[in-house]
Amino acid sequence: MAAVTAVTRWRLLLVLSTAALGAAGAPQPPNILLLLMDDMGWGDLGVYGEPSRETPNLDRMAAEGMLFPNFYTANPLCSPSRAALLTGRLPIRNGFYTTSGHARNAYTPQEIVGGIPDSERLLPELLKEAGYVSKIVGKWHLGHRPQFHPLKHGFDEWFGSPNCHFGPYDNRARPNIPVYRDWEMVGRYYEEFPINLKTGEANLTQIYLQEALDFIRRQQAARRPFFLYWAVDATHAPVYASKPFLGTSQRGRYGDAVREIDDSVGKILHSLQDLGIAESTFVFFTSDNGAALISAPKQGGSNGPFLCGKQTTFEGGMREPAVAWWPGRIPAGQVSHQLGSIMDLFTTSLSLAGLEPPRDRAIDGLSLLPAMLQGQLMDRPIFYYRGNTLMAVTLGQYKAHFWTWTNSWEEFRQGIDFCPGQNVSGVTTHTQEEHTRLPLIFHLGRDPGERFPLRPKRRDVDTGEAMDDGSRDGTAWPQPRDACSCQGLEVAGRILPWSHWRECGPVT
Ligand SMILES: *[C@@H]1O[C@H](CO)[C@@H](O)[C@H](O)[C@H]1NC(C)=O
Ligand SMILES: *[C@@H]1O[C@H](CO)[C@@H](O)[C@H](O)[C@H]1NC(C)=O
Repeated sequence: MAAVTAVTRWRLLLVLSTAALGAAGAPQPPNILLLLMDDMGWGDLGVYGEPSRETPNLDRMAAEGMLFPNFYTANPLCSPSRAALLTGRLPIRNGFYTTSGHARNAYTPQEIVGGIPDSERLLPELLKEAGYVSKIVGKWHLGHRPQFHPLKHGFDEWFGSPNCHFGPYDNRARPNIPVYRDWEMVGRYYEEFPINLKTGEANLTQIYLQEALDFIRRQQAARRPFFLYWAVDATHAPVYASKPFLGTSQRGRYGDAVREIDDSVGKILHSLQDLGIAESTFVFFTSDNGAALISAPKQGGSNGPFLCGKQTTFEGGMREPAVAWWPGRIPAGQVSHQLGSIMDLFTTSLSLAGLEPPRDRAIDGLSLLPAMLQGQLMDRPIFYYRGNTLMAVTLGQYKAHFWTWTNSWEEFRQGIDFCPGQNVSGVTTHTQEEHTRLPLIFHLGRDPGERFPLRPKRRDVDTGEAMDDGSRDGTAWPQPRDACSCQGLEVAGRILPWSHWRECGPVT
């Protein structure tokens, strides 16, 4: 314990003094419940202004907890974003980026044939050191080969699937996606686990709900601290809902899926209260990336006032709904303007367990406990990656785009549109436009939709001196505290070398 820092000691004290007593009479750290949505957008919850107000349970969760309107994923696509959550590291560090092309996102198995490397230390692996039992319910998406199985990466239980439920494929070359219970394959989507593509009926959210309730009950009975990662996928196209929810939303089938998830979250929070463990369970709700506007409006969600959606590094692709809930600990009805990241859930969870993040590697997440428990605001940048490329950085209210791109003209002409109905000239470009010498800057407070670029002074990357005067309103180009050299690397037009990145990276 000699190496434990003052901050960590404080966290330990906090955890110990508030914890329940475990089976052995030892103080027990809080349970951790991460509710991760699939392709749900910032604008999909009533509390975020969705006009049909169909999420009463999530809205109540926000009223009883803390809302994070400035919360981001680490990449606008499922696999890399989930890898970032579970490792606390940017996808360029944990291997979930592609080398197949500049600024190309990649996910398993289509573009990343492998999966999560053994060298990565995942959250459930680390939580084991503090006695946690961990379960993943739903979508894994970090590799489907045997060595990538979640039970080989720290989870004790799994019910769900290695990949997405789109399909069905129904042939030998592209078989339907398997569904697992722990080590065993127990069926396949569209076969033992039907999804009716015509009606949208599937019972999967109900099954995932029962899996969660059952796991919580068992751990509570055994007085063991638990980590439950509830990664449901009903809001990913093809969207689905069970019969009682089909046709009940103002928003169509996508809304039916949201309503069923909202109802399930309500049941999960009620069960924590009924079991008397609400005050010893930290719950966080968020999504893996922005709403998939390619599927909208029939099968896609809403990114509220933000530009574009999934796959892009505009706000609509990366800003996520986010709610923290921990009755008696996190004050009710609060809004935190802290810039938060999905990678913070890794570091925050370790703090809750009284553990230190690994010291032998760079970790990009920070603990949000000071923001949640003391209302502090911490100065930190948000990095927007697409594949291997740093596309943009936000610091405070300013966002600087080093590259703009939606998708290729070729894809666009085939009808694939990441920004339907939104064309901001020179911003939503269909060729990759480089702005590393004079970044495109937006003030996200005044212009959340990224429609009106500022004309800042260009500054020398090394000296910070103004180099020319393109300034219209005198706004100075914000110098991201630790990111300037990364911008310098992009000026050189090279992929970030790891060693160099570690030297100049955002987090020490
Ligand atoms: C869902 O469950 C109900 C009740 O068991 C059943 O009648 C229905 O066929 C199931 N639907 C699907 C699509 O599996
Ligand atoms: C968007 O608008 C610009 C200028 O108004 C135009 O040149 C461009 O072709 C438009 N892009 C699309 C995808 O319509």
